[in-house]
Amino acid sequence: MILITGTSGQLGSYLVENIPNSVGLDIRSSPYTKIRGDIRGDIEELLENYEIDAIIHAAAQVSVVKSVEEPKLDADVNIMGTLNLLEYARKHDVEHFIYISSAAVYGEPKYLPLDEKHPTKPKSPYGLSKLTGERYSLLYGELYGIKVASIRPFNIFSPRQDPNNPYSGVISIFVSRAKRGLPLIIYGDGTQTRDFVSVYDVVQLVKLVLEKKATGVYNCGTGKETSIRELAELIGKLSSKNVEIIYQKPREGDIKRSYADISRAKVLGFTPHTDLKRDLKNFFF
Ligand code: UD1
Repeated sequence: MILITGTSGQLGSYLVENIPNSVGLDIRSSPYTKIRGDIRGDIEELLENYEIDAIIHAAAQVSVVKSVEEPKLDADVNIMGTLNLLEYARKHDVEHFIYISSAAVYGEPKYLPLDEKHPTKPKSPYGLSKLTGERYSLLYGELYGIKVASIRPFNIFSPRQDPNNPYSGVISIFVSRAKRGLPLIIYGDGTQTRDFVSVYDVVQLVKLVLEKKATGVYNCGTGKETSIRELAELIGKLSSKNVEIIYQKPREGDIKRSYADISRAKVLGFTPHTDLKRDLKNFFF
């Protein structure tokens, strides 16, 4: 049986739906969550009826903004929660541990596209907590012979990200505001870029890593960058409303440019199918 954590979240929900013989664990109830519980709690008790061969750890505090506001909560969930699961994995001889990391571990790029060898110097508590969780995971791999892989997704989008959550990603916020005819707020001048990757491509890479029992670190993106201004204009057009764009001061901890070198993932057979314009249209309009 494969344990997937974070199944009330966007990635976890798609993973449990697309990976056979898997079971979802989350602190919040959702149609994709079978086991309700906190990753910081008593995992032994939560999993007493299960024989777990692999863990895909996607549960996390995912917002850069929230991590700046509540760094202790962010560290508790992303670091202590991960360590708690790793302890379970060690004690129960779990064979494969797949950690869902983040492109935020790189910080401000020294060169682009970002490959896995790029130095890690996070700019936010979130980036640091995700990197620490990743390091613990890789260390447990070395110390206890667990096969550990870490996937670093760039900016995931899907219809399942909650637009009503103020800490949601830019695409769900822009889409929900555009549909209501509200102005789109850009933090900074809008020249910052991101590599927007459809959740289906992230599922594709997680499945490849799982099937091949792969280890090590893998970027997951498309290799293309889109500026936030371009994104706002595109969503404005798709909504066919006359959407205004307004500019406010940049966010703390925000990275300027980001897009992935996906050569390592390609070696596993990964081929991204994301087409931002087409997928935005299909997902939201
Ligand atoms: C996102 C993810 C994070 C992931 C990381 C990987 C979310 C909430 N965060 O962080 O989990 O690990 O990608 O790269 O999904 N922006 C606006 N206006 C808005 C909202 C955002 O201009 O209304 C800008 C932000 O300032 C930022 C960019 O859009 O420059 C992207 O922001 P956001 O979607 O929050 O994602 P990241 O911070 O990149």
